[in-house]
Amino acid sequence: MDLFEYQARDLFEKHGVPVLAGAVATTPEEAEAAARSMGGKVVVKAQVKVGGRGKAGGVKLAENADDAREKAAAILGMDIKGHIVGKVMIAQAAPIEEEYYLAILLDRSNRTFLVMASVAGGMDIEQVAHETPEKLVKVPVNSNDGISKADALKIINDAKFPADIADQVAEALVLLWGVFVSEDATLVEVNPLVKTSDGRIIALDGKVTLDDNAGFRHPDHEALVDASATNALEAAAKEKDLNYVKLDGEVGIIGNGAGLVMSTLDVVAYAGEKFGGVKPANFLDIGGGASAQIMADGLSIILGDKDVKSVFVNVFGGITACDAVANGIVQALEILGDKATKPIVVRLDGNNVLEGRRILNDAAHPLIQQLDTMDGAAARAAELAAN
Ligand SMILES: Nc1ncnc2c1ncn2[C@@H]1O[C@H](COP(=O)(O)OP(=O)(O)OP(=O)(O)O)[C@@H](O)[C@H]1O
Ligand SMILES: [Mg+2]
Repeated sequence: MDLFEYQARDLFEKHGVPVLAGAVATTPEEAEAAARSMGGKVVVKAQVKVGGRGKAGGVKLAENADDAREKAAAILGMDIKGHIVGKVMIAQAAPIEEEYYLAILLDRSNRTFLVMASVAGGMDIEQVAHETPEKLVKVPVNSNDGISKADALKIINDAKFPADIADQVAEALVLLWGVFVSEDATLVEVNPLVKTSDGRIIALDGKVTLDDNAGFRHPDHEALVDASATNALEAAAKEKDLNYVKLDGEVGIIGNGAGLVMSTLDVVAYAGEKFGGVKPANFLDIGGGASAQIMADGLSIILGDKDVKSVFVNVFGGITACDAVANGIVQALEILGDKATKPIVVRLDGNNVLEGRRILNDAAHPLIQQLDTMDGAAARAAELAAN
């Protein structure tokens, strides 16, 4: 999960990283009040999860509280690269002397963590890496050792930070490593880290990505989720513990096991090419124990998606045999009643397949069509979606 800048600021503050006072506002009046409480001169910053806000006009200096209200009115509702601004952060204005860059991230390709540091901060770091790579220092971090003050000082000196602030920057890097580890982040980036005219080092803009797989260790991270951006069906699926991802096609997919579901997406997309580019509408893995209730929950989520034109249930019977799955489908359709309105193509194979197919044949539900092969069923589902 990517955080908003104001959430990153709060996490930094919690772990002792030096930040400026900041407050969130969703209306110009709130922005004015926040600016007033900070003494008037502030920076109004669009809160969107996309880079380059400054260049897009989403970061503006306000001279006083009235000005902050006007700047907030201009920024709220702005479209920045397809993200509509719903909140602004009101930040104390800092007297900036220099801008630097610090980041800690998970380096997947090298299976390690990585620190990046540069004295060329405040701008697009990809550009720095491309045009002046000598100005970007990259140092792998051993997760067992972490970053000691001595390690941090070495990195900061290698990156040629001015000697008078090297110690403060190194201290900030150690604290950022603390954020990275204790919050289970995969990215902690500060751009810019600034030196103020009175010689202080402050994290002015933060980008943090938290590792959702570690969410169980952090009940407090739940509150950081941006409910307005969560797909309603994905939220409903999560509540039922279903592994569901909304995609933008027309064929609803249900399968058991992530591998099978992924290959089902492939065969449906392939079959769909013959029907004007029909594509999968979602990924839904109902896992090993496909009970009637789980099948009903899954079907109900998928049938609730207005983009879905047909459904493909692709199940390979293992520990949960095909007859149990077939019974699950039949009962699920009973539970759903007339909420089930779209054609459902079922392909069963594996453990007890003949009994499973017999159960579905005997039920003779008008919405269900059975096919014996995955390719055949994918083609039928695509064809039904196209018509
Ligand atoms: N509180 C502040 N006081 C003074 N200047 C600021 C403040 N916040 C930001 N700025 C100035 O605005 C510039 C852009 O701000 P910031 O880094 O937060 O946004 P951005 O880089 O455009 O956004 P993104 O990081 O999403 O690309 C900074 O480099 C800094 O010069
Ligand atoms: Mg920035």
